[in-house]
Amino acid sequence: MSSLGKVAVLGAGNIGGSLAQRLAELDVAREVVLVDIIDGLPQGKALDLQESAPILGFATRVSGSTSLDALAGADVVVETAGLARKPGMSRSDLLGKNAAIVRGHAEAVRRYAPNAVVVVVTNPVDVMTYYFRQVSGLPAARVFGESGTLDTARFRTFVAEALHVAPRDVTGFVLGTHGDTMVPILSLTSVSGVPLAKLLPAERIAAIVERTKQGGGEIVNLLKSGSAFYAPTASQAELVTAIATDAHRLVPVAAHLAGEFGETDVCVGVPVVLGREGIERIVEIDLTAGERAAFAASVAAVRSDLEILAKGAG
Ligand code: 2OP
Repeated sequence: MSSLGKVAVLGAGNIGGSLAQRLAELDVAREVVLVDIIDGLPQGKALDLQESAPILGFATRVSGSTSLDALAGADVVVETAGLARKPGMSRSDLLGKNAAIVRGHAEAVRRYAPNAVVVVVTNPVDVMTYYFRQVSGLPAARVFGESGTLDTARFRTFVAEALHVAPRDVTGFVLGTHGDTMVPILSLTSVSGVPLAKLLPAERIAAIVERTKQGGGEIVNLLKSGSAFYAPTASQAELVTAIATDAHRLVPVAAHLAGEFGETDVCVGVPVVLGREGIERIVEIDLTAGERAAFAASVAAVRSDLEILAKGAG
């Protein structure tokens, strides 16, 4: 089902390596290139992955490079580079250092791959998505952040565990920022169409919401060095596949808002329809009064980081 020419993955750490593996095994592109500044890391991971092709049967060619000109002609770029959290850190603590990395990469995308669709993963992701778009000058529809798909996967996992049902049968949305003020949309959560509120008592739901908000931190605390990568890369691979197959998937991503949900000039998680050219449209669902207030608080948290960025790294 290969419909993309080239996917470039910036950063060959745990996320970059795991994502390259998922993309190769899904065969969604003719070529996946891993790019990192540490000489040997992207080349080594790429060669190792390539050598799995005869066993797994994928046709994707996997290569590694330390040079940003390897982005040339990429149809999709996934920005995973940057520092990950350590225990006790919030995603916002990564702001300054990761902004410097994202800036260089956004300039490189403008130069080498101006037609790419860009998926930003680097944290704090809502702010880095905004910054990547600003520096690259790419249209808003072609730069978005992976966040809601991951947070929703965590939420669905915990709901499925609590109810003893198949995780795939749980649907829902986590909107807002990829941080403590994220907003699980309970009014739209169901198990094969049965509303969650009919299946679980309110206090169990509240506990799941809290665990979801701390979901990334829970893994950071367990791993002690580095953050999650299996669920994040499953979510990123889902987004890249939606682009590759022009699937018109309705998914939550961090998108640049221009009036939608009453917000302007900010990137935050909202439902979008995703296809070959990126975001086809933002879907303005009705929120309850409580959800609207929580969403506004979430946007305020992103704006506060954007102000820090504008004063310092911007
Ligand atoms: C997470 O939530 C890495 O932010 C990412 O695990």
